[in-house]
Amino acid sequence: MILVFIFISSVICEGILQMEINSGDQTSSNSNKITLLLGTPPVSQQIIASFTVSSSDDLGQFIIDSSIQKNDPEYYENQVQPYGITLYDMHSSLTAQIGQSYQSNTVYGGYFVGNIVNDVMTIGNKQFQYQFPCVVNDPQPLPFQFLNGQTIFNRSNKNYFDYMIEQNVIQNSDYLLQKSQQQNSKVDIVFDLENNNPIYSQAKNPLEGNSQFNIKFYGIYANNQDISDKLKNRIINFDMVDFSQNTFYIPMELKQMYFQNLHQYDLSNCVNCQCQIILSLPTFKFISQEYIFEITPSMYTNYQKEQDRDGNVRGKCKINAMSFSKYNFASYLIKFANAKIMYSKETNSLRFDGIKKTKHMNLDTSIVIISSLNSVIFALLLLNLFNIQQKQKLLKGEISIKSNILYKTL
Ligand SMILES: *[C@@H]1O[C@H](CO)[C@@H](O)[C@H](O)[C@H]1NC(C)=O
Repeated sequence: MILVFIFISSVICEGILQMEINSGDQTSSNSNKITLLLGTPPVSQQIIASFTVSSSDDLGQFIIDSSIQKNDPEYYENQVQPYGITLYDMHSSLTAQIGQSYQSNTVYGGYFVGNIVNDVMTIGNKQFQYQFPCVVNDPQPLPFQFLNGQTIFNRSNKNYFDYMIEQNVIQNSDYLLQKSQQQNSKVDIVFDLENNNPIYSQAKNPLEGNSQFNIKFYGIYANNQDISDKLKNRIINFDMVDFSQNTFYIPMELKQMYFQNLHQYDLSNCVNCQCQIILSLPTFKFISQEYIFEITPSMYTNYQKEQDRDGNVRGKCKINAMSFSKYNFASYLIKFANAKIMYSKETNSLRFDGIKKTKHMNLDTSIVIISSLNSVIFALLLLNLFNIQQKQKLLKGEISIKSNILYKTL
């Protein structure tokens, strides 16, 4: 009760960076879009936030300068204007410090040129200095639109929150992902977490190795059958979070066991059917040091209706399993299990809210519990002894009173 009261009474001033997720949309370039403010006066910028292990294009984070409009009108018309991007102007921002010239890597035969600029970035009510390549031209045009590049959230690379820490703007670099409480199609990246955020009362699951957000699991069950001995790969990765694809990344060994020849099932003859019931696919349980992750068939399948040329509606059950070197189902936990995942570089751990816990107790807590249990038992015993003595006394008294009464009546 007291704890609940403290949670409610504390003022919450955590930062939230909202990310748009357009599932089902083929253009994934619009997915994972975040909006930030840059410069003085602030200009709204859209950037792609990538939760990934490696990026196919390594242009990183850049910002397109408004001078692109006159330097390359064609690029502006085709790649900027249709997306409704407001352009930053390094020469009109009062806080911009324009540095040395810059040339990007060559990606798909194209590259950018510009300057390295340092300016004020604003996220929510937090401001910090941010350095970025500012693009003024593309001597060799890039084949497709990159928005303002992508900012990568991974374990080794510094992200916005790490810069804020360096500049003493926030207290810690932990961040968590959760389904947005206000809008369903959005995911919140919550940062500057308060000490009393409920996620801190969840167990710390240590990371495995030191380059990625990987954790180890000890057991794996398929429909409550222990299949741990049949599988060698014991790593779950949490770097990749792709909300638009909803992919169940699994190592080849598991894919071969359950999904070898299954990709799509034609369910044209099945009325109101659900993929998972028809196919009796397994529910997987992964047991890590602190958590039990349950992945149900409804998470990794989806029923798609398609109309064929004759106008008949046909249903297809799509299994979204894909081979990868590790397991990864991070997006399912957030999207379907309503879980929160906290990434902590400082403590090299992951914490989860809304996920089942393993039933072991920490040694410290069990010692405390045992010793306090002992004292409770001891006290109870004493009380009992005392009670028994009292009762005996009372009983004796009662008997003597009764016998007195008896004597008197006699
Ligand atoms: C993290 O992101 C950076 C920037 O894209 C990249 O250079 C680095 O290889 C990534 N690290 C890992 C472990 O994926």
